[in-house]
Amino acid sequence: MTRRDLYRLGSRVLGGAIKLAVAVPALAFLVSPLRKKVAGQGGASDSGGSMETLTSLSQLKVGVPRSFPVIRDRNDAWVTYPSEPVGSVWLIRQPEGAKPEVIAYSAECPHLGCAINLTTDAREFLCPCHTSAFDFEGKPKNQVPPRPMDRLDVELTAETDPKVRVRFQKFRTLAEEKIPLA
Ligand code: FES
Repeated sequence: MTRRDLYRLGSRVLGGAIKLAVAVPALAFLVSPLRKKVAGQGGASDSGGSMETLTSLSQLKVGVPRSFPVIRDRNDAWVTYPSEPVGSVWLIRQPEGAKPEVIAYSAECPHLGCAINLTTDAREFLCPCHTSAFDFEGKPKNQVPPRPMDRLDVELTAETDPKVRVRFQKFRTLAEEKIPLA
């Protein structure tokens, strides 16, 4: 092998190494959101069940439902949208001494997923899309919804004015059972 061949071989090896050094991190960057999505399933994703602090107990009146938005950073593959509403929750404070002290329902209608509101007289819940109606125990008041409103886990922090924390989760629509989405 001549010296010229040796130089040629050396420059090819060096060129290949440089290409590899550039390509590997670039590929890792492109693939990482997809890997993160798989790793995040069942965790704190948009539909997962992470605990959200919504308000404090003193902000709720007994027997009066109040809705709270759930705000999260939303990741869509390579883009992060900071502080976006991803859903909302109805909270109802229970009378003194009741357990639990606060009941939480997902505001997402179990029929087809529209946002559940209160009726104009605020005596029951009503979904404006196809008129699913529910009482304050979340029970259906007509035949439209396939199941009651989806109840969510609630915990109160140990403070003088406890924070109300809710496990925000989404469930399959049109199903008679409450089936959590991954
Ligand atoms: S989505 Fe609520 S009634 Fe159809």
